[in-house]
Amino acid sequence: MSEIVVVGGGIIGLSIAWRLTEHGKDVTVLDGGDEGAWQVAAGMLAPGGESVFEAPALVRLMERSADLWPGFAAGLGVDVGYDDTGTLSLAMTADDVAEAARLWTKQQLPLLRPSELRELEPALSPRVRIGVHSPRERQVDPRRVVAALRERLGDRIVPKRVDALSDVDASTIVVAAGCGTAKLTGLPVRPVKGQVLRLRGEPGLLRHVLDATVDGRSVYVVPRHDGEIVVGATQEERTDRQVTAGGVYELLRAAIELVPGLAELELTETTVGHRPGTPDNAPLIGQLEPGVLVAAGHHRNGILLAPVTAELIAGLVLGEQGDPDFDPRRF
Ligand code: GLY
Repeated sequence: MSEIVVVGGGIIGLSIAWRLTEHGKDVTVLDGGDEGAWQVAAGMLAPGGESVFEAPALVRLMERSADLWPGFAAGLGVDVGYDDTGTLSLAMTADDVAEAARLWTKQQLPLLRPSELRELEPALSPRVRIGVHSPRERQVDPRRVVAALRERLGDRIVPKRVDALSDVDASTIVVAAGCGTAKLTGLPVRPVKGQVLRLRGEPGLLRHVLDATVDGRSVYVVPRHDGEIVVGATQEERTDRQVTAGGVYELLRAAIELVPGLAELELTETTVGHRPGTPDNAPLIGQLEPGVLVAAGHHRNGILLAPVTAELIAGLVLGEQGDPDFDPRRF
């Protein structure tokens, strides 16, 4: 067995393993093949749009990771869909505007009128009232990132389910098992269900990520260069894997209100993922006990936070201090 074993073959575990190999460490990833939120995630890198007012430490972590993303993506050496066209954050009704305005004021971005928005994105509905362009809110394709990380790590990834940490033989164990972290460590990581859709059409209908409030409902629309468009996501405190008629209806209704042309596209995927949430919705990154590190509980920001998590865990392995704000022992 290796010096370091990472339990979990999702984007967090693989990113950590990759970073550690770059430091010359002997690493094995045990991949139980479990569902990971990355499999359905849209890949929005949104330190502003996903920010939480009452959690400045988390916002700082998100911004730091957003800054790491360009180098992280380039280092993978293949196209992982990293795109910095930016995000249009939009509102439809007066109530939607009131809801969004708080965040926009904090971000200090100039408000754009409907005509300015449609200049940037001609397919937008004339009903869109107002919005902002956030150049720092970007996207990446999580499926491509994970494929690239797997390619990089090759046979360091071993298919194996871990039921107890006592079964793992290594001087350092890194638990990066998403929702499965609860069972392995006793830490409070809960699944938060998200239903996500994928549409497909000719490339070019949209260029920006759209993040909107439409008649009181949050929806995001993430266009890829190849014509895939990801529409997400519900947020439900549920553990089941059912795609529901209501979930699909609400997402499509909001997305088509925003961009009427989406109604013409093929609906290619309806999927469910579970975000690993914690009681304060901030991640657990640090030492749990001697020889056991944890990197889990990234909730809505697992893709965004992968590079900074890898950097923090690599730092801990190399003997640096962790970030006390994300210490897993706070629970
Ligand atoms: N980060 C988007 C989501 O969790 O739905």
